[in-house]
Amino acid sequence: MENLRIPGPTPLPNEALQAMTKQMINHRGDEFGKILNDMTAKLKELFQTKQDVFLLTGSGTGGLEAAIVNTLSPGDTVLSVSIGVFGERFAAIAEHFGAEVIPLRSEWGKAADVDAVRQALQAEPKIKAVLVTHNETSTGVTNDLASISSVVKQFDKLLLVDAISSLGSINLPVDDWHLDVTVTGSQKGWMAPPGLAMVSVSQEAWQAHAKAKMPHFYWDFSRAKSYLEKGQTPWTPAVSVVFALSVSLEMMLREGLPNIIARHARVGKAARDGIKSLGLPLFAEESHVSNTVTAVAASDGLDTKKMLKILREEHKVVLAGGQQKLDGKIFRIGHLGWVTENDIEIVMSALKVALPQAGFRSAG
Ligand SMILES: Cc1ncc(COP(=O)(O)O)c(C=O)c1O
Repeated sequence: MENLRIPGPTPLPNEALQAMTKQMINHRGDEFGKILNDMTAKLKELFQTKQDVFLLTGSGTGGLEAAIVNTLSPGDTVLSVSIGVFGERFAAIAEHFGAEVIPLRSEWGKAADVDAVRQALQAEPKIKAVLVTHNETSTGVTNDLASISSVVKQFDKLLLVDAISSLGSINLPVDDWHLDVTVTGSQKGWMAPPGLAMVSVSQEAWQAHAKAKMPHFYWDFSRAKSYLEKGQTPWTPAVSVVFALSVSLEMMLREGLPNIIARHARVGKAARDGIKSLGLPLFAEESHVSNTVTAVAASDGLDTKKMLKILREEHKVVLAGGQQKLDGKIFRIGHLGWVTENDIEIVMSALKVALPQAGFRSAG
């Protein structure tokens, strides 16, 4: 079996795997209704919210599209706080549906500048919503969302958050931080397969939804709400993925959210310490490193593609490369969901052997 250490999809515990072998059930029947209601309650606990939470069948990007088209109208001005590939994607969706996007970009590897967010909001009163990525998976950076949110809310704007690779792994109290729509995906920290996006919707988001004119049919939050009241989803859900997520949510609550967050902090630190002890530099700025993904800068002759191939073929360790302009410049270790320090040790042992074979000449 491969040791899959990419930032999603992540390996599944046996309990979740087993759940997917269950026979299909009627998604309009009582049994499914009970499962859905129970999962929704558990998700609210893990989102730290009393707001509505919906289970949508689709990948994380579908959830991001849902956040935008349910709250905005063509011509609305939005501020896109972007620090990497996924920030750019969020903005691209808004633009695709006719929003006027004001980009606020940070150099990749750095976190968003909270003062710059304040200045951008001051400079353009027409801004209706702010798009932000909590954890930028492409660079291994976690934004200071509490501070960003506090600025956004001083200006009384809607805050739409991509928390796909953070929620359920890194602390993200949705209600305390006044997040209006928060999106995550089942294949990340949730120990479930790809196929579900989970989103929370605040009262302010519902008010925006009432006026939102961007086209939406499949992703309609009103439909999701009215069907959830009957213990259903509007469309046929990914039943097997629902079974798996139901089991993993149970496991998560058994472990307890504070313990999960602490485990990710420990594992994240183990990954960063391991990388540094191999003589490699982190790509992300130290003050905002992510506890779910570690991005490592290629240096000292390292050919990352060769290294990834050696790891995969000779050690069965699968890591991720860099995306877009970071292709060949960084590699990434995913450590979210079903992961412990032991998994990181295995990665580090393999790296120790593969790095010199891939051209790395350690200074140390
Ligand atoms: C931060 C972030 N946003 C968005 C996405 C896109 O999610 P999906 O691939 O599930 O559509 C990902 C997935 O890697 C992600 O990490």
